[in-house]
Amino acid sequence: MSEATNAGPVAWVAGATGYTGQAVVSALLERSIVAYAHVRPDSPRKAYWRTEFVQRGAEVDSTPWDEAALTGRLRDLGVTQVYALLGTTKRRAKQAQQAGDAPADYEAVDYGLTVQLLRAAAACGVSRFIYLSSAGVGPSARGAYLQVRHRVEVELQQSGVAYTIARPSFITGPDREESRPLERIGAVVSDGLLGVASVFGGRKLRARYRSTSATVLGQALVRLACDPEAANRVVESEHLRG
Ligand SMILES: NC(=O)c1ccc[n+]([C@@H]2O[C@H](COP(=O)([O-])OP(=O)(O)OC[C@H]3O[C@@H](n4cnc5c(N)ncnc54)[C@H](OP(=O)(O)O)[C@@H]3O)[C@@H](O)[C@H]2O)c1
Repeated sequence: MSEATNAGPVAWVAGATGYTGQAVVSALLERSIVAYAHVRPDSPRKAYWRTEFVQRGAEVDSTPWDEAALTGRLRDLGVTQVYALLGTTKRRAKQAQQAGDAPADYEAVDYGLTVQLLRAAAACGVSRFIYLSSAGVGPSARGAYLQVRHRVEVELQQSGVAYTIARPSFITGPDREESRPLERIGAVVSDGLLGVASVFGGRKLRARYRSTSATVLGQALVRLACDPEAANRVVESEHLRG
């Protein structure tokens, strides 16, 4: 069935298998929005994810990471909202390098694939591109992780596509499938320190850098994507909590 005839929004989610991506798919379905969960064709868990998403009521798309292929697919499906929620980790990049696979570092994935998707979305004239950036991103931010995000943000803002850029702090919770003890400890310690800071007047600091769960963030992203007033806005962490 082609979704081009559907009158409501049609969402396509890159990074759907991730912690935030799964929550965004659920939030879309809660609002009865047609949701395409992208599962990369080379995913070792492709069959698992297909079953999982179909059971939840989502559509599954496994278009390869190729600009022309993505452009054709987004156009055929009549996609109106594109969510760019993918990202690698240093550990994943190292594993890919050791296995002799294609580069999977911040440059190749967080920048390269996201910008490929942006160009496809621009060619199709989608009505909103929602980009999951990070707290702390800016021109003078240090480190490859924040710098590639800054470059994506700039390219998105110059693309002519209506965008919403979200800059969350830690995204974590006991429901994260992949074990990330350092992230969890980091969030607990930072939330604790921020709690102390707020007692001494650091309320704004706490609001900005306090951690959030994927469920809360996913609902906020979908709400923003459907809000005409959130077009062409950068939304900081404190406004991503319901
Ligand atoms: N976690 C945080 O505290 C935090 C805070 C601020 C911003 N962010 C950013 O927000 C985004 C989502 O975070 P998350 O924690 O939800 O991520 P996550 O759970 O690690 O999920 C990452 C997603 O990216 C996909 N991906 C990773 N490497 C890929 C590759 N080489 N090719 C294609 N797809 C690839 C994964 O697909 P597969 O399942 O197929 O591998 C998965 O869908 C990331 O960009 C992250 O950097 C995270």
